[in-house]
Amino acid sequence: MAYSEKVVDHFTHPRNMGSLPKEAPDVGTGIVGAPECGDVMKLQIKVQNDTIVDAKFKTFGCGSAIASSSLATEWLKGKTIEQAAAIKNTDIVQELNLPPVKIHCSVLAEDAIKAALSDFQHKTGAGRQSGRGAG
Ligand code: FES
Ligand code: FES
Repeated sequence: MAYSEKVVDHFTHPRNMGSLPKEAPDVGTGIVGAPECGDVMKLQIKVQNDTIVDAKFKTFGCGSAIASSSLATEWLKGKTIEQAAAIKNTDIVQELNLPPVKIHCSVLAEDAIKAALSDFQHKTGAGRQSGRGAG
């Protein structure tokens, strides 16, 4: 099976590889693993005024997982929390032309984004918007 050009590009020139300070109040960290293959992905976001100003990843996994997380960090930068939450693994599949056997690699990236967002929201309490009524 051949990797698509875009996968190879991200794999050989990963964007935003590295770490942000996990304890910082403006940083959200998501660490997820794929049961299918045991690969692990760490994705971090730095948020200012509801906008993601930086994103980093570290992925121990296949080329598609690395490419998916590299692409995800590119997409995350400049997005609001709400826009980031709307990123779907299917968008990644389409952009990278992932074959069916590599779909779960993109799911890993979506899960990592969601985990990073929820970690950030947990830190700030921003996720706790009650629908209505005091209670
Ligand atoms: Fe994920 Fe090979 S199955 S690295
Ligand atoms: Fe498992 Fe890509 S993340 S093969």
